[in-house]
Amino acid sequence: MDVTNNMGVESEKIVAAKEASKLIDDGMVIGLGTGSTVEFFIKEVGERITKEEIEVWCIPSSYQSHILAIDNGFFVTDLFQVGELDLCIDGADQVDRDLNCIKGRGGALLREKVIAQASETVIIIIDSGKLSEKLNSFIPIEVLPFAYGSVRKKIEKMGGKVNLRESDSKIGPCISDNGNFILDVEFGVLENPKELETRLNGIAGVVENGIFSSEIIDKVIVGGKTARILRKS
Ligand code: A5P
Repeated sequence: MDVTNNMGVESEKIVAAKEASKLIDDGMVIGLGTGSTVEFFIKEVGERITKEEIEVWCIPSSYQSHILAIDNGFFVTDLFQVGELDLCIDGADQVDRDLNCIKGRGGALLREKVIAQASETVIIIIDSGKLSEKLNSFIPIEVLPFAYGSVRKKIEKMGGKVNLRESDSKIGPCISDNGNFILDVEFGVLENPKELETRLNGIAGVVENGIFSSEIIDKVIVGGKTARILRKS
């Protein structure tokens, strides 16, 4: 394992997280994504909550973020209470030159997309290794367990190579926070992410897929020595 490189990745995530934490004002209600970069963001905002005595409310997209948010002094609310959010901060697994993203390596894509769609502004925070000219990573797809077999066949007929995600700490499939299976599907290079996103969601039993086409994304903050802001052209 290349430890030096890992430390570089971590510090880039921290730079992006710090930059995003400056956008938080007292009294805001924000959507919280999931993953290691969001974890740094939650901790950065947590420090501001303590030092500046600000009040920050959030809707977390996973149990991971929910627990971290509480540990770091956030108040947690839900979409029953707050149907629209000003801001959502989330990570990504891959981002292309048009700011289309693939998300869901952490299995939280469904709630992440719900809170992103509910937000006025969506900001993605990443290390520079996530950037790619075109999307070509596997696509996580959340599937109703009842429909696993039929969804698998439909996706294979579309040309996707399907892997049912296995759990690391129990025998059998990984179960999402919503009680569903996650399929990791290889489609090669995505020439038209929006079209594939729509087609996949047209299959009965697909609950949501991890393509977040650029229409939902406002800005990407890329960590490096300093933070770089990418906007849609
Ligand atoms: C969670 O399901 C994903 O969508 C994450 O946003 C994504 O995997 C990014 O995670 P890291 O910040 O840990 O790279």
